[in-house]
Amino acid sequence: MDTPVLQLKNIHKSFGGVTAIQDFSLDLKAGEVVALVGDNGAGKSTLIKIISGVHGPTSGEILLDGAPASFPDASVARERGIEVVYQDLALADQQPVYMNLFLGREPVKGPLRLIDRGRMIAETEKLVKELDVRIPSAKVTIRDLSGGQRQGVAIARATHWARKLVLLDEPTAALGVAETARVESTIQALKARNLAILIISHSLDQVFRLSDRICVLRRGQQIGVRKTSDTNKNEIVAMITGVSE
Ligand SMILES: Nc1ncnc2c1ncn2[C@@H]1O[C@H](COP(=O)(O)OP(=O)(O)O)[C@@H](O)[C@H]1O
Ligand SMILES: [Mg+2]
Repeated sequence: MDTPVLQLKNIHKSFGGVTAIQDFSLDLKAGEVVALVGDNGAGKSTLIKIISGVHGPTSGEILLDGAPASFPDASVARERGIEVVYQDLALADQQPVYMNLFLGREPVKGPLRLIDRGRMIAETEKLVKELDVRIPSAKVTIRDLSGGQRQGVAIARATHWARKLVLLDEPTAALGVAETARVESTIQALKARNLAILIISHSLDQVFRLSDRICVLRRGQQIGVRKTSDTNKNEIVAMITGVSE
């Protein structure tokens, strides 16, 4: 009954002679937030790219809802309910929020298959309200929003399409304090929708605020996974750096 949404089993990834990920295994459950931490070059982004179908693993297995899954490319992972939010947002600056929410997946109506703008606007307004993303309207252009509002839109888009899993790669790295707080509450709203969430963050404060478990990577090696409530920053820092005091 409690089959994990995502299971990674003994994932290895090398790029030519460089081993980016070595024997990584992790289960993610619905409604769970797992934080992935580690220094630059630890392999965090590579792992997210493997889960989202950007890179294939060199070896190892990915299971979705208990069934073996392979994603030849990112569009297949998206079809399976996996969405990614990056630090450098993939939003179209000149387009209104509602167009960005549907980019490439616009609903159509009637025999002429015209783009159904009314539906896009209504769905966008419903979603931003639900996630408490504070924007003036669904029709506002992306370039007229703050960084935090844009990231809110990117997360809303991921939420709209993700049926299982949302992967966030440093979603607040470019944001100020207040903007970060808003994005964090949006991430908490995702959790309340029972999605599984994997977040990469450099901010241990953020990791401790948001996550249920913390997974530490060091130079491609999985150092360990801790329940957030059973650990502390000192332990996580020691795991990240390999230096214990
Ligand atoms: N496309 C690629 N080709 C070659 N090496 C790569 C590629 N992507 C990542 N790497 C290497 O894999 C390692 C992990 O990188 P990355 O996953 O980006 O780390 P992190 O996100 O933890 O900072 C690094 O040594 C990096 O140089
Ligand atoms: Mg990275």
